[in-house]
Amino acid sequence: METTLVRLASPVTDVIVRCRPAAEILYWGPHLAAFSPQDVDSLSRPVPNGRLDVDVPVTLAAETGRGLFGSPGIEGHRNGLDAFAVLTTVEVRQPDPQQLVVVAEDSQAGLRLTTELRLHADSGVLQLRHGLTNLHPGDWQVQRLALTLPLPESAAEVMAFHGRWVREFQPHRALLAHGSLVQENRRGRTSHEYFPAMISGEPGFAEQHGRVWGVHLGWSGNHRLRAEVKTDGRRLLQAEALYLPGEIALAQGESLTTPWLYAACSGQGLNGMSQQFHRFLRQEIIPFPRASARPVHLNTWEGIYFEHDPAYIMQMATQAAALGVERFIIDDGWFRGRDHDRAALGDWYVDPHKYPQGLMPVINHVRSLGMEFGIWVEPEMINPDSDLYRAHPDWLLALPGYLQPTGRYQYVLDLSHPEVFDYLLMRLSWLLGEHPIDYVKWDMNRELVQPTHQGRAAADRQTQAFYRLLDVLGERFPQVEFESCASGGGRIDYEVLRRCHRFWASDNNDALERQTIQRGMSYFFPPEVMGAHIGHHRCHATGRRHSIAFRGLTALFGHMGIELDPVRADAQEQDGFRHYVALHQRYRTLLHTGCLWRVDMSDATTQVQGVVSDDRAQALFLVAQLAMPEYALAGVLRFPGLDLQARYRLSVVDHPDLKPVIDGGSTMRQLPAWMASPTEFSGEWLMNAGLRLPILNPETALLLALDRL
Ligand code: GLA
Repeated sequence: METTLVRLASPVTDVIVRCRPAAEILYWGPHLAAFSPQDVDSLSRPVPNGRLDVDVPVTLAAETGRGLFGSPGIEGHRNGLDAFAVLTTVEVRQPDPQQLVVVAEDSQAGLRLTTELRLHADSGVLQLRHGLTNLHPGDWQVQRLALTLPLPESAAEVMAFHGRWVREFQPHRALLAHGSLVQENRRGRTSHEYFPAMISGEPGFAEQHGRVWGVHLGWSGNHRLRAEVKTDGRRLLQAEALYLPGEIALAQGESLTTPWLYAACSGQGLNGMSQQFHRFLRQEIIPFPRASARPVHLNTWEGIYFEHDPAYIMQMATQAAALGVERFIIDDGWFRGRDHDRAALGDWYVDPHKYPQGLMPVINHVRSLGMEFGIWVEPEMINPDSDLYRAHPDWLLALPGYLQPTGRYQYVLDLSHPEVFDYLLMRLSWLLGEHPIDYVKWDMNRELVQPTHQGRAAADRQTQAFYRLLDVLGERFPQVEFESCASGGGRIDYEVLRRCHRFWASDNNDALERQTIQRGMSYFFPPEVMGAHIGHHRCHATGRRHSIAFRGLTALFGHMGIELDPVRADAQEQDGFRHYVALHQRYRTLLHTGCLWRVDMSDATTQVQGVVSDDRAQALFLVAQLAMPEYALAGVLRFPGLDLQARYRLSVVDHPDLKPVIDGGSTMRQLPAWMASPTEFSGEWLMNAGLRLPILNPETALLLALDRL
């Protein structure tokens, strides 16, 4: 018997696929305790009057030629021909019970589509991609190749993310009854503007309730995501790499593989979805080369910018070590001629004026203090004012015969050009081979405009070449960790995460802004890959001032660092850095391995998040007051994720800004009585009745710990 129905099962989620005559997801929802193949008969569709005479399934390939009138999953042609492929399954394979491979062909159009699905047994995350092969002579021009996931009709609300430089990961929502919500990114990197994810759910879904289906496309280039309601009411999510005109032409025998799409469905609201993604990343993708805890950083950028004086940097390192810092990173400004941001990108040689004895004295000093050493690079870029440009003006990723604007005074190098690739590999191998470097902050500070290789669109090739460069370096220097930075959070996605170990979430170190940015990022990423730094008390990006407590507690829930000049900080600030670094070190195992919860509060000005250890013995919750409270009385915090049977000791770990009545003002006259001494409560009580919070002033925070007795 030919396999028609395949069920991929996990304790959380099941996926049921009808594979013949074409692959169609019939069910993607909660795990089914009992299932028999004839159950799917209940979902057989009537045929409506007034349109096509047959039922048309929304297949994984969503072919137009089949009679689907929505957004197709495949678009392309062979010089105008073979444009309406209808793919029929020719082979179904299950390499193991969690995987399904469906091969489908259209022998007339000369195309083969191979679709791979993997349902991760533990996390319940579904991972899928297509591979398209041209079987006939003559190029088949690919315009689009998308993955299409059908959703139940109840998924009527959509959440996606917008953003910009210094304001990444801002969620927005829409109720979708007709038509589509489409987000396109043509910037050539993952982008600050549209993080490649969409979440659909039952209207009103929230952090702690509602059924949601979320997808993320793991791709660091151009992309398009779409939530669509067909005119017959069926709903779908579609995701694809976005190809520029003429960019992908498959010669006979050639294939194109889409990026992986990662999908999770949860009946426990957005937290359930995030917890699945976090678990999946921790098990399958995050590749920390060393088992040790994530080291606390000091990054020099906002401390000294381009002013590099090794003697002074060594003083900074000494001071950093005294504060508990474990990894010291010199940022932009160390290479030949890099005195400002208008010159020198491409010239990856140590500046002989700033560092007459090379980098080694600084590196040795940093390491003698017991810290790791890290360094900043931006390999994909070139300034017109650089020796590299003067020698190779033709190495640009540009369209010959056109002028294109610079961005931050720089152009992009054409990584598809073998000499460019080899040059970068050579200089980076020199840097990492000749110096004991533990960590590289890899930056990428401009978008791709007219990205062509010899006149043909090459944004996709550029992203592939960037991955290849990192892959080769990863093989050559397996002990080196990489951070993905692109003017802050411009290149954050699961595919680059296969090659790096940390993201610089944003160039905005304003703790108030960071609360929102980091929350947005937490939907798809766990704290240990989210670079979060304590910045200067007057934030460089916004000019706002925040207490050390608010800055420290905000940076606590990520991979912590400090970004300023510790030498020039006053004694009070230094005490603060020491305190929050130590606090992070005390709790980082919990923060970096536990289960993250975002808590729904009735007052949206109060933002609460927490991490509960997997065994539920320990929890840490941060209550951040973002603006003036909506109500006079603070809300009740019902703690999620605890052990109902256990008793917990509740302690206030940190609240230095919490003051009842300052100079006759402030939002609170008297503290709640429970704050007077450590108190014990049952998990059941804390989860159901909760804790009445003290009233916090805007831009302050409170850290609470629970320890099982
Ligand atoms: C980008 C990064 C910053 C810093 C500067 C250096 O803006 O996001 O963190 O490294 O470049 O030029």
